[in-house]
Amino acid sequence: MSTATTPTAYNYKVVRQFAVMTVIWGIVGMAMGVFIASQLVWPELNFGLPWTSFGRLRPLHTNAVIFAFGGSALFATSYYVVQRTSQARLVSDGLAAFTFWGWQAVIVLAVITLPMGLTSTKEYAELEWPIDILIAVVWVSYALVFFGTIMKRKMKHIYVGNWFFGGFIITVAVLHIVNSMAVPVSLTKSYSMYAGATDAMIQWWYGHNAVGFFLTAGFLGMMYYFVPKQAERPIYSYRLSIVHFWALISIYIWAGPHHLHYTALPDWAQSLGMVMSLILLAPSWGGMINGMMTLSGAWHKLRTDPILRFLVVALAFYGMSTFEGPMMAIKTVNALSHYTDWTIGHVHAGALGWVAMISIGSLYHMIPKIFGREAMYSTPLINAHFWLATIGTVLYIVAMWVNGITQGLMWRAVNVDGTPTYSFVEALEASHPGYVVRMIGGAFFLLGMLLMAYNVWRTVRHSKPAEVVAAAQTA
Ligand code: HEM
Ligand code: HEM
Repeated sequence: MSTATTPTAYNYKVVRQFAVMTVIWGIVGMAMGVFIASQLVWPELNFGLPWTSFGRLRPLHTNAVIFAFGGSALFATSYYVVQRTSQARLVSDGLAAFTFWGWQAVIVLAVITLPMGLTSTKEYAELEWPIDILIAVVWVSYALVFFGTIMKRKMKHIYVGNWFFGGFIITVAVLHIVNSMAVPVSLTKSYSMYAGATDAMIQWWYGHNAVGFFLTAGFLGMMYYFVPKQAERPIYSYRLSIVHFWALISIYIWAGPHHLHYTALPDWAQSLGMVMSLILLAPSWGGMINGMMTLSGAWHKLRTDPILRFLVVALAFYGMSTFEGPMMAIKTVNALSHYTDWTIGHVHAGALGWVAMISIGSLYHMIPKIFGREAMYSTPLINAHFWLATIGTVLYIVAMWVNGITQGLMWRAVNVDGTPTYSFVEALEASHPGYVVRMIGGAFFLLGMLLMAYNVWRTVRHSKPAEVVAAAQTA
């Protein structure tokens, strides 16, 4: 491998910065997750203070894991993948650096304002309007860096991973800007520009596509690069990947109303959301199968390569959560699952099993390369991390399934005279063991992240990463 610092070398500095912050924010966000999980076991941990109450720390957890951890992973991998597959340096180092510092500023502002109780109250879009404007500016800069780099690519075709990253970047910009439209009344308070059912509809068009594009399409971009790379096999079917892309982006955008079943939303809109969610199973599984089948002839590598295990188990959880989601979108199923821990279990099957695992696997592949190292410091530590993450995820989601079904059935049970069989508190008491198991599962996952941090630190310390010349690379 030839190394030199020349103008044609890739910009790995910003990739390194985002990669390291992914690990740090992962630990912060998941520690927050374990803490709020513990609050549901021991309510005393709310400490009777507003700043440390569950209601304020919960959005801090979701913002930290989705936007700080997930977002940094997406920036790091998309900047890495777009350069290598385009054989071109990022179009502007200055703008790329701005996206790094701007995004970190957004996160720090979230860490300050959310515990203070400053919130727009829209889930996954809680940040107040000045921060929303900063997000929009950073995001448009991200689009300029990404698409500017695609435009100066040295090869004719655009690798499918970049299609997914590109789709994610454009859609998130549109979702964020439309959903955040608000009338400010002070620096820290604003009111949504929309009202009533329209507001709810726009919020869940945003909310569902935050899942579809932020938590799915972007990570599929990751999958399409890192699975073939780690397995040292070409993607199973390039044709399937193109069908996957167009089908996924055109169907996801209609599924939002499944979050609003049995509400004031018009019934036809709810049914449309349900049907589109059911159809979504097909492209989701098409993508999952495409990733899995890439391992054809390379399955034996799973015996010795824990990085590949992370990537493959992530795909398995992706398949599982995208089967579960369409089922939960069926109105009669949703009548049982909605408001219960089943939803929380589904969320974390996607969030821990898919989003976190695919990011962790990709980072283990990428970190040695961007820091000029042969490999990660310790493969046994990666293996230990893999088992902690897998067992932690399973404990989490199984506990939430049991809780969810228990809650749903207890809430709907009625006596012959029509009165509820169980009080709410009885259902809560029945949920307590599940909350303990979830907390333990979360602690397992967090412990794995701490091992990762140590492994990364040992890998990168003393390294003087040299920029890698584009021309010398095979993308
Ligand atoms: C150590 C790992 C984690 C633990 C222990 C944990 C724990 C929790 C807890 C206790 C809640 C609140 C549940 C409730 O209100 O009943 C929650 C919500 C949530 N978490 Fe996590 N979490 C973890 C990791 C993650 C990750 C990595 C992501 C995303 C990438 C994530 C995304 C979310 C989301 C989106 C919600 C809100 C769900 C909803 O409103 O339906 N979590 N988490
Ligand atoms: C085909 C794919 C999917 C479909 C059709 C789907 C469907 C659903 C449904 C029906 C709900 C429950 C809505 C409710 O009762 O309030 C839900 C909640 C949720 N799903 Fe999925 N899901 C899919 C995949 C995923 C994936 C892969 C992830 C994560 C990476 C994910 C993250 C979430 C989150 C965060 C929520 C909670 C939203 C909230 O109420 O705060 N979903 N999904």
